[in-house]
Amino acid sequence: MTTVIIGGTSGIGLEVVKRRAARGEDVVLTGRDTTRAQQVASSLEGSVRGLGVDLSDPHGIAVALTGIDAVDHLVIAAVERDNNVVRHYDIDRAVRLVTLKLVGYTEVVHTLLPRMHDESSIVLFGGLAKDHPYPGSVTVASVNGGVVGMVHALALELAPIRINAIHPGIIGDSPFWSDKPDVILEGYRSRTATGRLPSMEDITGAVDFLLSNRGATGIQLGIDNGWLLT
Ligand SMILES: NC(=O)c1ccc[n+]([C@@H]2O[C@H](COP(=O)([O-])OP(=O)(O)OC[C@H]3O[C@@H](n4cnc5c(N)ncnc54)[C@H](OP(=O)(O)O)[C@@H]3O)[C@@H](O)[C@H]2O)c1
Repeated sequence: MTTVIIGGTSGIGLEVVKRRAARGEDVVLTGRDTTRAQQVASSLEGSVRGLGVDLSDPHGIAVALTGIDAVDHLVIAAVERDNNVVRHYDIDRAVRLVTLKLVGYTEVVHTLLPRMHDESSIVLFGGLAKDHPYPGSVTVASVNGGVVGMVHALALELAPIRINAIHPGIIGDSPFWSDKPDVILEGYRSRTATGRLPSMEDITGAVDFLLSNRGATGIQLGIDNGWLLT
């Protein structure tokens, strides 16, 4: 069983890598830089290989992924953070994120598709900024909404290969959030229904479910502890 995790050098992607490698799967993780990806891979237990691929350069993706043979499961979690208010709109940053998430994600699927089989499955990452935006999130909210359309269209085009999306809320123990002052995290916790922020383990459990459940395709799974309900 081979699982490829694009954006697997840190955060949620890295947790997925660890979980699947611990089960004895062959795992390929990627980040932008080959050396860093290889270093992360060699620091882990199990059969883990690291590759470099930059999703903001979609023309380079096919060449960068030539070292991958058969693919049973594909998880695409890559992101570059963007805070871009429209009154001071930074076109280059916006184009970079749109390219990475929408064109880059799709080109990874296009490239690896011939190496998949009918029982293969794919999980993409969006995010709940699409429903719960904040000032500065115009590009983030847009690309997360774009992931919805992408998954719906690809679920039809790729069948019987399955494809689903996870839209996390604020994942309290992920590297991006875990160092934030507790007063900020407490503000977010208090806006969930459960008083808890979801964890990376909650997300990796959702990845397992969507990759393995043969009835699941075209799903947009929000994991947010009821954030959107409050
Ligand atoms: N954490 C949250 O609370 C949260 C909330 C909502 C949505 N999400 C979504 O969940 C996913 C994972 O988030 P995370 O917080 O775990 O991310 P993260 O820790 O920031 O990790 C991002 C990953 O993407 C890779 N990456 C960055 N730029 C790239 C590029 N241009 N091309 C290819 N790979 C690139 C990074 O690798 P290198 O740095 O090694 O290049 C790293 O492996 C993302 O899609 C994010 O939008 C997360």
